[in-house]
Amino acid sequence: MNDAPTTAVALAASKARLASYLHPAEWALIAEDIAAIHDLKRDRRALVLAHNYQTPDIFHGVADVVGDSLALARAAERFSVDVLVVAGVHFMAETAKLLNPDRRVLTPDQEAGCSLAASIGPDDVVALKARYPGLPVVAYVNTSAAVKALADYCCTSANAARVVEAAARDFGSEAVIMLPDRFLAANTARETRIKIIPWAGACEVHERFGPAELTELRERFPGITLLAHPECPEPVVAAADFAGSTAAMAAFLDKHHPSRVALITECGMSDNLAAAHPETEFIRTCNLCPHMKRITLGKIRRALETLSPEVKLDPALITAASRPLQRMLAIG
Ligand code: 13P
Ligand code: SF4
Repeated sequence: MNDAPTTAVALAASKARLASYLHPAEWALIAEDIAAIHDLKRDRRALVLAHNYQTPDIFHGVADVVGDSLALARAAERFSVDVLVVAGVHFMAETAKLLNPDRRVLTPDQEAGCSLAASIGPDDVVALKARYPGLPVVAYVNTSAAVKALADYCCTSANAARVVEAAARDFGSEAVIMLPDRFLAANTARETRIKIIPWAGACEVHERFGPAELTELRERFPGITLLAHPECPEPVVAAADFAGSTAAMAAFLDKHHPSRVALITECGMSDNLAAAHPETEFIRTCNLCPHMKRITLGKIRRALETLSPEVKLDPALITAASRPLQRMLAIG
């Protein structure tokens, strides 16, 4: 990061990106934290990776890389830095550590969990494998490192069907175990002939959407385009115009420029995309992820100041849990 901009230049760029989100008085309240974070990033040779659900002050103010789970998993390779700060939930920080074992990975709030990752433990995977011997296990990245270590492949919502088909092909099998999200499993099953054996987990944000909400949106907002995340229940995805990962939704907007849209996902997405799409009216369907929202500018600043909390994983666990991730990255 030797070519990192000076703090004054970086701060001016953050201010410009946040101009449509903040009143000048609000900018004054966060400018000091943002300046300190830019300073610390240069001093520590650090990169801030932010998920699409982070708040605009983080997403537009201090992030070096933004994106969906897949983009964040891939991102760090491109940069020569010593420290990664993951502005996202805990499994994302663990994933960054698994793919960057020699770098220091900081998680600004260790309590930032995920209902999907919490829904399954290693013993459950062992029991599933005993029940379905010989079937490949595809684990969504929204799992702990201990669960990934027992899986054959990882996937994200951006590549689930591709990974399921590659897993079935490699194992010469017509079925795969896919965990832990039952809705992602059901939605992926619509895209492939491979039989999917699911686990019963669900995302506490996306499971709350129902098809009636989409019907009501179409009635109230004629001409609206509905984009749904595949962690939503199957009838919601079926009622949407398009389903995809958070990055795929952003790409849809870039390509199609709908006049009116509702993103059937965590509400941070609409906030972050609104400035880049003034041609589009965003109808907010606000389901918040309380875990994502635990990350704040103050906690990112403290993490960089103290170089903690740090993600620490046993080397044997890193070896075992990075294997399914690397297989996923090879599939694309
Ligand atoms: P993606 O950004 O990979 O679509 O995942 C959404 C999500 O819920 C992450 O926690
Ligand atoms: Fe987990 Fe859902 Fe929150 Fe993503 S939005 S971190 S899947 S609880």
